[in-house]
Amino acid sequence: MSVRLAVIPGDGVGPEVVAATLPVLRTVLDRQGEALDVTELDWGGERYLREGAAMPADAAEVARRHDAVLFGAVGRPDVPDHELVWGLIIGLRQQLDLAVNIRPVRAFAGVPTKVRDTDGVDLVIVRENTEGEYTGAGGVVHAGTGDDIGLEVAVHSRRVIERAAEHAFTLAERRTGRLALVTKSNAMRHGYPLWDRVVREVAQRHPAVELETVLVDAMAARMVQAPRSLDVLLAGNLFGDILSDLAAVLAGGMGMAPSANILPGGDVPGVYEPVHGSAPDIAGRGVANPTACLLSGALMLEDLGHDKAAELVRESVAGALADPGNHTPDLGGHASTNDLAAAVLTEMETR
Ligand code: NAI
Ligand code: MG
Repeated sequence: MSVRLAVIPGDGVGPEVVAATLPVLRTVLDRQGEALDVTELDWGGERYLREGAAMPADAAEVARRHDAVLFGAVGRPDVPDHELVWGLIIGLRQQLDLAVNIRPVRAFAGVPTKVRDTDGVDLVIVRENTEGEYTGAGGVVHAGTGDDIGLEVAVHSRRVIERAAEHAFTLAERRTGRLALVTKSNAMRHGYPLWDRVVREVAQRHPAVELETVLVDAMAARMVQAPRSLDVLLAGNLFGDILSDLAAVLAGGMGMAPSANILPGGDVPGVYEPVHGSAPDIAGRGVANPTACLLSGALMLEDLGHDKAAELVRESVAGALADPGNHTPDLGGHASTNDLAAAVLTEMETR
């Protein structure tokens, strides 16, 4: 057996964290008697400059020939961000209909955080991934007249809310049974009240889950003040995006936050990626924290049914991070990307 993995290293620190992750995935799969079969794809900023598109027209087809996609990050100072964000990340999510974005946040022992008292934080944000504020619906009227008006139309459909909610409730059942729906249905009167109604209907099918609804502004405060009171959060595309960066800080920053883009129950490969971008400020120095990418690899293993391998990656990452000598500069340490990845491999040998 083998895992067919499409790898998009991308730009900036993307290739650095991906290169640190692949040997770990290879090792852990090897232990299960499975091979890792990697197809490297040159999609991203360089391809955009060379060919005028960040990925080929048949990108979704290429992805479908694999069991999963591991994606580093895109973004270059000499390419407009929207060309790569829309031309690759959001494009791939929409073309593969990757309905939800799973963003787990766990505070590992020994990792310093800017927010005090985050011991034991262990939450998951389930973010709707295809609609909301990020469909591109809208336009500019009176362009160039000095009275330009930009319209950005949010799209919320019952079917899409329902499938994200169904996944969030299922996840909550497997965890502590607590689910917080994040909206802004007091100020926005159409889309988010629909979320409230649909999610309450889905809740009927999951009586074991305790549902609360929290407005996004209150949630931002609570996430800092009482993060342990949270388990599974369900949010739309925009709020999920913002809150997951905040949540990453609880775990030590952007270098620590993994994610999975998946279609629950669907027959398409998931796209697994660190939440962070290409980090041009530190790219090329070999000091990026590979944890977010490593943990994204663990999410991938879990979704492919390799639960033991996923747990082994997480335990080995936790073991390596317990020693400040293995911390990269973002965590206040002096270790390089490769030092931390090597420490993870060493931890793995002892388990
Ligand atoms: P960013 O996530 O690249 O960087 C934000 C801050 O976090 C920087 O100070 C960076 O050094 C730090 N950081 C990020 N990843 C790190 C890691 N692995 N280890 C240590 N420190 C890390 O976000 P920013 O600066 O807003 O965007 C940079 C570029 O990345 C832009 O072109 C943006 O469009 C793109 N981007 C791409 C994403 C993706 O590919 N999924 C997501 C977010 C941004
Ligand atoms: Mg974001």
